[in-house]
Amino acid sequence: MNDNLSSLVGEAQRLFAVAADAATLENAKARYLGKNGLITERLKTLGKMTLEERATAGARINDAKQTIETALEARRAELAEAKMQAQLDADAIDVSLPGRQRGMGSVHPITYTRQRIETLMRTQGFAVADGPEIEDDFHNFAALNMPENHPARSMHDTFYIDNGLVLRTHTSPVQVRWMENHPPPIKIIAPGRTFRVDSDATHSPMFHQVEGLWIDRDVSFADLKQVLVEFLRLFFERDDIRVRFRPSFFPFTEPSAEIDMAFGEERWLEIAGAGQVHPNVLRAVRLDPEQWQGFAFGMGIERLAMLRYGVPDLRLFYENDLRFLRQFT
Ligand code: DAH
Repeated sequence: MNDNLSSLVGEAQRLFAVAADAATLENAKARYLGKNGLITERLKTLGKMTLEERATAGARINDAKQTIETALEARRAELAEAKMQAQLDADAIDVSLPGRQRGMGSVHPITYTRQRIETLMRTQGFAVADGPEIEDDFHNFAALNMPENHPARSMHDTFYIDNGLVLRTHTSPVQVRWMENHPPPIKIIAPGRTFRVDSDATHSPMFHQVEGLWIDRDVSFADLKQVLVEFLRLFFERDDIRVRFRPSFFPFTEPSAEIDMAFGEERWLEIAGAGQVHPNVLRAVRLDPEQWQGFAFGMGIERLAMLRYGVPDLRLFYENDLRFLRQFT
């Protein structure tokens, strides 16, 4: 009986150990502990024993039963653990897979050009100013010596909003706003978006300008030339910059010039308008033209970018074709 029982226990332990899954294990359990299981059968024999026999046999059978139950529990725990581990392995990150890519953007070439202009003009002592893109008549026109019905207004194909507001046709209104709020000396640039009803290879209805304004006691046309040529040298990273100052007309400057830059073989592209600030503009912001004078200029940012990068059509900057834009990253 004793040997019999312990070989039963050993057999159960081996059977449990090789049960590869929960179902097999529970079947194996039934073989010993089920209603008609081998241990259960032994327990049933106790009733036919004498009291004395029953005590020792009962204790042994219960011992065996407990050993089997312990082995069962241990194996159940092992299988549960293995199952969880398999699940974890299945869900686990495969470190050999390529990573998920994030699309890398880049700064638009016009933005980049504007930032460079700001950096280079700062080195010449200009602060960077800002103004609204929706302007009133006074700042966009009247204060710049273009009173109502002045023919010069027709130089600008203006987008009118209502209540006398316009999409600013140039960055020059920032000159006015700045002078209204800051006493001279003034030395600023004002880059930003401008709008005109205009569209071809060198014009876009939305484009960028950078305004410049230097007002002090004796700032002259010579200073204008010095500042602009120095800027162009820095911007194009070459010393042999060729510019030409063409006499021109702007209501807000006197004298006025248009500035062309040479590129290739004797081809010229207009890049800026400029001149000495007109006394009427100073008067409009309550500055005394007998005491204060200086120059202003307005450059086209797209024009500068076209020249620097050799882009033949300004509209390319706004089609957002990645094959184009990626060339500037
Ligand atoms: N505002 C002019 C334009 O958009 C450009 C310009 C010309 C600006 C002469 C100036 C200037 O400040 O002095 O055509």
